[in-house]
Amino acid sequence: MANGLDDVVAAETVLSDVDGVGGHLTIRGHSLMELAGRRRYAQVVRLLFDGFFDDLPSDAELEKAIGKARVEVFDRVQPMLAQLAPLDIYSGMRAGMAVLPDGDSLADALRLIAAPAVLTPALLQLGRGETPVVPDEKADHAGDMLRMLSGTASPALAKALDSYLVTVCDHGLNASTFATRVVASTQAGLTSAILAGLGALKGPLHGGAPGPVIEMLDAIEASGDATAWLRKEIAHGERIMGFGHRVYRVRDPRADALKTVVRQLGSRSETGSRLALAETVEQAALEVLRIAKPQRSIQTNVEFYTALLLEAVGFPKEAFSNVFAAGRVAGWIAHAREQQATGRLIRPQSRYVGPVPDLVA
Ligand code: COA
Repeated sequence: MANGLDDVVAAETVLSDVDGVGGHLTIRGHSLMELAGRRRYAQVVRLLFDGFFDDLPSDAELEKAIGKARVEVFDRVQPMLAQLAPLDIYSGMRAGMAVLPDGDSLADALRLIAAPAVLTPALLQLGRGETPVVPDEKADHAGDMLRMLSGTASPALAKALDSYLVTVCDHGLNASTFATRVVASTQAGLTSAILAGLGALKGPLHGGAPGPVIEMLDAIEASGDATAWLRKEIAHGERIMGFGHRVYRVRDPRADALKTVVRQLGSRSETGSRLALAETVEQAALEVLRIAKPQRSIQTNVEFYTALLLEAVGFPKEAFSNVFAAGRVAGWIAHAREQQATGRLIRPQSRYVGPVPDLVA
């Protein structure tokens, strides 16, 4: 039995499909390329939520409702921010989200959408000894997140962040989405289900990889020889962060979507030189991995260019997984609602391989 449940189909979904051989991602009937950079995050939230909430308003009204939810979440968590600030930024965000009401309504869902976008900048600001910036309910979601982070949000950076949030909004039955669906299948509320997803996303084999990608780029830049650095890592049994995927045997389409966004930002000299370094490292890593693991097709995954994009828009590497959660939370909620609607508890079997008790005559 495969411990990683490889190739096991554990849910039917209308939300997204990952074609690991063709290298395509479909989200509710749209290819990723139709959505990333073309639809705003709030529109994609609506796309994912369609059919899972009775009272879903229009795109414009939903964007406003998400803005109101940011203000509501800020008011709710503000009194506890000082206690959360000493925690690492991911744990602080998770603890802040844990106090949200555990219901199943659209209002509950929108608070969960808003929460990572509010808590992450607020905790970063407190960590820098500054006062958190209050959300602006009229601003767009990504723009407001950047404004809360640094006081301003250029339209170009806001658009780049928005494209990122859309790109990572949903991705089949990945580990965090599966964890979310397991909890949702018990008919626990949305907050409980999303907390399960948050726990799974944190690990470096899933959403925790982009921070280490930055560390790798910095170390390679300092060493001056990408191939030698990467060979040494492989020789020590280390994994190269930002490469490999359980489902994709070809290049992750999200890597290209994000690289395009980074290239558009590349006229800023810092991002341009970072992109040039990343491209050199990527080519070297693909070659080193091809030689070291010839039996496996290990290609660039979403996390490699995530790291560059989030660095370019101004997030510190410790907060990259938080921003991933800010995008993926939409998919988690839709999957939780889809699972709840089946009414079926997820409860697989395990095979006992431990010692058996002595039979007493
Ligand atoms: N660097 C080096 N070796 C890698 C690798 C990587 N990034 N990804 C996979 N491998 C190797 C494994 O060491 C293993 O080699 P072996 O057969 O000699 O032991 C082989 O490829 C198969 O690995 P396995 O863990 O079975 O593959 P998987 O499909 O379960 O792995 C990941 C998927 C994502 C867990 C894995 O590719 C990885 O750890 N990547 C780095 C972390 C990362 O970028 N995570 C974000 C994912 S979006």
